[in-house]
Amino acid sequence: MGLVTITPEAMPGGRPPSDERARAWCAQLEAGDILYFPQTPIAIPQNDLAFLLGQQQTDSSLHKNIAYKPNADKLSGVDTKTADAAAVTRLQSIMRNYSQAVVRFLTGFLSPYHADWRLDYASFRPQEEQGRDLPLRRRNDLLHTDAFPTRPTYGARILRFFNNIHPARTRDWVVGDPFSKVVHEFSPAQIAPRPDSSTSRAAKSLGRAVGLGAAIPSIKRSPYDDFMMRFHNFLKENPKFQAESPKYPWQFPSGSSWMVYTDAVPHAVLAGQYALEQTFLVSPDALVAPETSPLKVLEGIAGTRLI
Ligand code: SIN
Ligand code: FE
Repeated sequence: MGLVTITPEAMPGGRPPSDERARAWCAQLEAGDILYFPQTPIAIPQNDLAFLLGQQQTDSSLHKNIAYKPNADKLSGVDTKTADAAAVTRLQSIMRNYSQAVVRFLTGFLSPYHADWRLDYASFRPQEEQGRDLPLRRRNDLLHTDAFPTRPTYGARILRFFNNIHPARTRDWVVGDPFSKVVHEFSPAQIAPRPDSSTSRAAKSLGRAVGLGAAIPSIKRSPYDDFMMRFHNFLKENPKFQAESPKYPWQFPSGSSWMVYTDAVPHAVLAGQYALEQTFLVSPDALVAPETSPLKVLEGIAGTRLI
């Protein structure tokens, strides 16, 4: 696995690639490569950048990691009681434009996918990543594969597109060996895929924590989602994996973009500040090499269907 560099010459005149070229890029992503754009293909207006970069200096609550839900056109992670209403509206419009610009670009660039993806959240990440004080399972400086505690994907793949918008600094990642290798090497029996587990424990305890007890309908996860969540936790909690698994450092410069299947490529962010990100859930039907997907790898291990 590696880094595939894509320069503007790969898209002469900004035109979308041929279907054949787009399929080859999808195949590289599915094989665990990172597609890297030294110069981001996403136009972000200068005054939007200035607004985003100004957020850490203010004492409004806009400085937390903020999610934008494109399908509802809503921000979350903003405390509307303390944040300045005009700033919230501005941020919402910047995130809406960013999300739409990434969708427009990838609709052409990854044409085999776009009829079959679900647009998930976008995020603004204004905090310094080095030395962030987070509970272990929420730490992003430990190598992990992504899984969403409250949004099971039923085999859809988690594809993330990033922009480093820091004016000067790199965003420093390490990535690990691909899923199929790591899962065989490090996955012990207790987290092996189990076809019979389906209900989300996290959802139940979330229900209890917010005082809804059994009244909250529990989030139904497939056995696949259940495994992916346990695997995420297991990797972060496993000192042997963290210490001994191969790590490949990549530093993404200011002004660059990259995208990667974060459900299969173990990754961690060690340092950097100010990033934008858009997540896509790519349906298993759209994959160009479905047999290499985590779902098929796990079904091979379990010997049964997992969704
Ligand atoms: C992550 O998905 O683990 C975080 C990546 C980043 O914020 O650069
Ligand atoms: Fe992650």
